[in-house]
Amino acid sequence: MKRVLILNGPNLNLLGQREPTQYGHQTLADVEQLCRETGARLGLAVECLQSNHEGVLIDAIHEAGRGVKAGQVLGVVFNAGAYTHTSIALQDAIKGAEVPVIEVHISNVHAREAFRHHSWISPVAAGIVVGFGVEGYVLGIEGLARKLGYQAS
Ligand code: DQA
Repeated sequence: MKRVLILNGPNLNLLGQREPTQYGHQTLADVEQLCRETGARLGLAVECLQSNHEGVLIDAIHEAGRGVKAGQVLGVVFNAGAYTHTSIALQDAIKGAEVPVIEVHISNVHAREAFRHHSWISPVAAGIVVGFGVEGYVLGIEGLARKLGYQAS
């Protein structure tokens, strides 16, 4: 069974209490549980990591890239939070690690402030899911599996 990494960036540990009109009432633990259930349905093992630190996210992408090369990891479903709009280093990490990444945003970033309209992740993403609330993580996992033609063995 292959693994998928659910990677969440800064401030997503505050889900449930942070700006609920933008991000809803579900906590990060709820989201991770939803992802595990989705993985179980598709025959994928789900690993979850959240960090507020750019370097930790970069290390996790490198590690996922090694897993992809070893045939153990399918890819990453990544909500980079505000680093989406600032981090060339994350773009370089995804490119360098050659890891399939589905970019997820809970809110519709294009309906928000102009500084949220640009993403450094999008040019290197295998797909993008925006504005579906936390269901976007489910769609992200399903999209990754479909795009890569994953069949559970
Ligand atoms: C977010 C959107 C980003 O602009 C914001 O900085 C976040 C969350 C989203 O999931 O909608 O932290 O990535």
